[in-house]
Amino acid sequence: QEEDVRDQSVWWKEKQQQLLDIVEEEGPSYVYDTQTLEKYAGLIQEIEAVDRTLYAIKANANPEVMRTFHSLGFGFECVSIGEVHRVIELFPDIDRKDILFTPNFAPKSEYEEALELEVNLTLDNIYPLQQWPEVFRGQELFLRIDPGHGHGHHKHVKTGGVHSKFGIPRFEIEEVAELVEELNLTIKGLHAHIGSGIKDPLSWKRTAIILHEVAEQLGGVDILDLGGGFGIRENDTQAHLDIKQVNESLNEFKEAEPQYELWVEPGRFLVAVAGVLLTRVTQLKGKGQVKYVGVDTGMNSFIRPALYGARHTIVNLSRLEEPNSQSVNIVGPICESGDKLGIDRLFPQCKEGDVILVANTGAYGQVMSSDYNLRAPAKDVVI
Ligand code: LLP
Repeated sequence: QEEDVRDQSVWWKEKQQQLLDIVEEEGPSYVYDTQTLEKYAGLIQEIEAVDRTLYAIKANANPEVMRTFHSLGFGFECVSIGEVHRVIELFPDIDRKDILFTPNFAPKSEYEEALELEVNLTLDNIYPLQQWPEVFRGQELFLRIDPGHGHGHHKHVKTGGVHSKFGIPRFEIEEVAELVEELNLTIKGLHAHIGSGIKDPLSWKRTAIILHEVAEQLGGVDILDLGGGFGIRENDTQAHLDIKQVNESLNEFKEAEPQYELWVEPGRFLVAVAGVLLTRVTQLKGKGQVKYVGVDTGMNSFIRPALYGARHTIVNLSRLEEPNSQSVNIVGPICESGDKLGIDRLFPQCKEGDVILVANTGAYGQVMSSDYNLRAPAKDVVI
């Protein structure tokens, strides 16, 4: 059952014709499937110890996608005041405490605005407390702690440890405790997010244990936010994250320390598999042994392969039934040699106009796109 839900190809194989029609009308497009969003939300809800899920909208801030999670009762985690405004504009009646604002090196004005808007606010540095005490006096806050280690699919997305710019290091906690007293602060929750694309199911329990130790030092903490980072399978060779083990390990933690509310803030896990990027073949080229399939959008729409070497499943949606007969590089129209959606892919023969599908691109796809080379990136379509 669970494998079926997670099989990345189920939904787009079923909706092949609808997807081909969308590209015909819209050109290069990201298409998101609402039912798959709901299925993945259901998997996160299987983690019984979690009391609250906040969707990290940096992964995909499409209004329809956000509406889906809002209607399931999820809150929202935001990293910029722009993201906070997006949530409030879409859901004017939202309880402001369903929004957690977790800025990093933001200007003073964003903290002031967040407090005015009465959203939950996380500090990830003691500088604001030391330099702008008047802004925070008497406030209720979350603190982002650096547990001392990071984890993730690529060094760019590890957000813990001394080489990462995020979080308050544990050696500063005593200083924090003094500032808490001096400024009459309430530390409502502790937060940690150690990275993205994590497949180790014990990672969140490890974070919980460290946050618990810090909470003991500070006293009075009710909420532990264990961050996001839940990994997905970008192609068939990768493993699933074992949600059952995440569940069991967090149940163990909750049994030992029942005094906390546990929060998580997944982005990728909720949206990645529900999205595909569709683009059409423009030209074919052979350079000796190397064959290129050119398509009408590239790193301007989807930068993950260029930025992290990400390897997403790619198929020729116009020829799903045809056998693979060649190895190709699938490349976009952008003026950089790094503009590759996929390298060394087994593919059927292709023709100009064929629709190419890049799978599991619902997270960190459209949100990281640009009009580099003044080429408009793929549009968003929700089905
Ligand atoms: N919470 C915080 C504080 C974060 O910084 C992030 C992601 C999340 C939650 C959600 O993480 P997720 O569950 O999506 O892994 N562009 C990169 C990923 C960057 C993640 C940034 N922070 C990629 O395409 O792999």
